[in-house]
Amino acid sequence: MEFLGFSLRNRLFVAPMAGVTDRPFRQLCKKMGAGLAVSEMVTSNSLLYGSVKTQRRARHDGEASPIAVQIAGASPLMMAEAARHNVDRGAQIIDINMGCPAKKICNVMAGSALLRDEPLVARILEAVVSAVPNTPVTLKIRTGWDKANRNALSILRIAEQSGIRALAMHGRTRACGYTGHAEYETIRAVKAAARIPVIANGDIESPEKAKFVLETTGADAVMIGRAAQGRPWLFREIEHFLATGTYLTPPRVSEIHQVLLGHLEDLYVFYGSETGVRVARKHISWYTRGLVGSAAFRHAMNQLPTVGEQRQAVDDFFRLLAEHHEHLPYVATAKAAAAPGADECAALAA
Ligand SMILES: Cc1cc2nc3c(=O)[nH]c(=O)nc-3n(C[C@H](O)[C@H](O)[C@H](O)COP(=O)(O)O)c2cc1C
Repeated sequence: MEFLGFSLRNRLFVAPMAGVTDRPFRQLCKKMGAGLAVSEMVTSNSLLYGSVKTQRRARHDGEASPIAVQIAGASPLMMAEAARHNVDRGAQIIDINMGCPAKKICNVMAGSALLRDEPLVARILEAVVSAVPNTPVTLKIRTGWDKANRNALSILRIAEQSGIRALAMHGRTRACGYTGHAEYETIRAVKAAARIPVIANGDIESPEKAKFVLETTGADAVMIGRAAQGRPWLFREIEHFLATGTYLTPPRVSEIHQVLLGHLEDLYVFYGSETGVRVARKHISWYTRGLVGSAAFRHAMNQLPTVGEQRQAVDDFFRLLAEHHEHLPYVATAKAAAAPGADECAALAA
């Protein structure tokens, strides 16, 4: 797929997730079939540029192109500066977050709270687009503020007038949080009116659902968040299904074993041992959710303080699984596919 001057392997995008889509995870998803991965949100508050967390979030060495970085904030000036700052550090696409309902973000009138103030939306978009004239700028929104105020169409118009090059839409309003189901009607209406590419997002957790959403909305691409947690191979499964109409054989336990060990090594290097072990715990939990015998394993694993012990525990668990199973054995009631409705941006508050 051609997208903003980049040639992508497909139209499957990794959704930006604070605390999840760090460079190791983006790289892994790209390796396992994602066409594009948007970084976790980087603050537009320049006072924080020097913080370890913000600097780490803006690191892209070794990541496959295009590098897409999301910025968040409510001040046009600061957002313009943030865009320039990230382009100077290697961003090839700047994405603006107006889709995040987290209290911490909304209280300062950023994220999806901005959708309520259309003149401010216009000022932010124009400021960012003119700050980085040689870099495409994209926008991520929800369908509106609440069900009575689904103003996505009017945001689309503002975006197009401001020079935004693509629009990603999560099919929920800000007020919906993560409740109910994403709806695709509003995305379909926006796509029908749009002159820029539209990316559909929300509750896509399987190859069939990806096909359904692409067909229902007519969107140019789909964006997947929670369902990819602990399951980065989902992208190649969807890619295969869209291309052939048939299912790819699920990954063998032995392959997942190696994927996870590789993911852990990347996390340890990227974050350093101490933070690396902590960040790795949630990924290990996602990889093993619903697997036979995994609750006791997770409980024990979460107590392990060092890289060596954590790596060994994961290695032992998967070695044992592989001895008895070719493919992942889920307990009968477990929903293997989707991660639960995480408290969006909870990680941000951390
Ligand atoms: C843990 C977590 C963190 C998120 N952080 C961001 C973020 O930083 N910026 C953003 O625009 N959306 C963020 N989102 C929203 C996702 O990008 C996506 O729109 C949402 O999860 C719906 O897609 P899904 O159903 O495929 O998960 C986050 C979601 C989760 C679960």
